[in-house]
Amino acid sequence: MPNWLKDAVFYEIYPQTFCDSNGDGIGDIRGIMSKLDYVRSLGCNAIWLNPVFDSPFMDAGYDVRDYYKVAERYGTNEDLGELFSLAHEKGIKILLDLVPGHTSDQNEWFRKSKQPEKNEFSGRYIWTDSVWEAPPQYRLLCGITDRDGNYLVNFFSSQPALNYGFNNITHPAWQKSPSDPDCLATVEALKDIMRFWLDAGCDGFRVDMADSLVKNEDGEKPETCRIWKGIREMLDKDYPDAALISEWCNPKVAIGAGFHCDFYLDHDNNGYRYLFRDKNWQTGECKAVFGKNGKGDITKFLDEYLDDLNATKDKGYISFITCNHDTPRMTKMFSQQEAKLAYSFIFMMPGVPFLYYGDEIGMKFMDGLNSKEGGFSRTGTRTPMQWDNTANHGFSTADAKDLYLPVDTSENAPTVEDAEKDPDSILNTLRRVIAIRHENPDLQSDGEFEVIYAVKEKYPFIFKRGNFIIAVNPTEKEQKAPFAFDGETVFAIGGYEKKGSYIVMQPQTLALIRI
Ligand code: NOJ
Repeated sequence: MPNWLKDAVFYEIYPQTFCDSNGDGIGDIRGIMSKLDYVRSLGCNAIWLNPVFDSPFMDAGYDVRDYYKVAERYGTNEDLGELFSLAHEKGIKILLDLVPGHTSDQNEWFRKSKQPEKNEFSGRYIWTDSVWEAPPQYRLLCGITDRDGNYLVNFFSSQPALNYGFNNITHPAWQKSPSDPDCLATVEALKDIMRFWLDAGCDGFRVDMADSLVKNEDGEKPETCRIWKGIREMLDKDYPDAALISEWCNPKVAIGAGFHCDFYLDHDNNGYRYLFRDKNWQTGECKAVFGKNGKGDITKFLDEYLDDLNATKDKGYISFITCNHDTPRMTKMFSQQEAKLAYSFIFMMPGVPFLYYGDEIGMKFMDGLNSKEGGFSRTGTRTPMQWDNTANHGFSTADAKDLYLPVDTSENAPTVEDAEKDPDSILNTLRRVIAIRHENPDLQSDGEFEVIYAVKEKYPFIFKRGNFIIAVNPTEKEQKAPFAFDGETVFAIGGYEKKGSYIVMQPQTLALIRI
């Protein structure tokens, strides 16, 4: 386990819309370099960079054309190397985004794989053995290449699935076992890519759809796990400081497979949804724990979370996110105050937390945008960072019409410049919370987590982390709980008081108390 993960706080950067250094309307690596001091000022000491590789951008770069080359619009491989060095000088680690499950259909491997003549790459992707063979349970693209067969897609149609084999083989004529030489060659190709970028100076990878490698396997996915365990062995041996973080959202399985961290994502009826995003968009009814109407149920989150936390203790971390590039920003459903409480809570939880660019200033989810590069409903979460009050909020000097996506030009669009001036802004609040986290190992990834007061459909929620108590009342009503304690307030949003053996919390408050 890389030691630095104990106190890592990540910042996710979507390179398209973070900072444009050359005025072409799209963010780039030099732009990111110019903002590293800002990232550090937040207390973030690690960055997850969304894909920066050569791509036709049918899925914002998750359709990789060349794993070994930085996309021209972001800069060069040399620029990326410089970013690694500069970040390291400033005490910031950088994770790249590794897409192991599929490539772009324009990737050289796929161009060769679709040739009718057998070649080294014929078995790199999953093809049926004839164009007339198209079992409906598989997402196949049919009859669009000269090769006599259909290929499986992993996500969008332009993203053919790489071949790691099948666990449960139902069509032996074309489904291979994971130990087939073609499937083993895919794993070796993946390791080569990882070594290339680790040697160039990156500090590890966020792994896209990490569970999607071997097909026809459910539940614990033993064959996919076997592959990741092998990769973890390589890292432990040759790159022991490199971190591996999975998009899996099943920490017991992912951490068992060798990942150091697994993301807690917004999935149907899971604990993360119950905390922050449980809203019926048709009726408008919000049942999220952090909704101010107080209709949430903390026990629905805890039932899942405690089980996962206990199962992964001392083995790996669950990563809370404020948001990511696939999820509506919390401000789509929450006010700034609700978001401030939710984000502050996230940085007081165990595991390795992630801050999505712009959340620290309460950037809005922008409704009504046309899809960009396969963004669809995700596009409103990917708009340009709002730095200051100059043109395009300082994101780019290009004409507004030439921007990758429009900036939020509404009158109350938050900016870093304005947030800096307000001591109670989300920005300055999170700076304080993250600084306190860095100062106190009890509040970091490994620190203990113990529930003190969590009652079905009641507030506040109180928990303990080592020598700290955290009490949070996201609702717009005063809330009290039986809890007697002696301690000193280290940080608070709003006020609370001790009344006999009760703690009474003002509406929309959070307190961090050292006992
Ligand atoms: C998950 C990524 O986060 C998402 O943006 C992408 O579209 C899919 N995986 C496919 O790679």
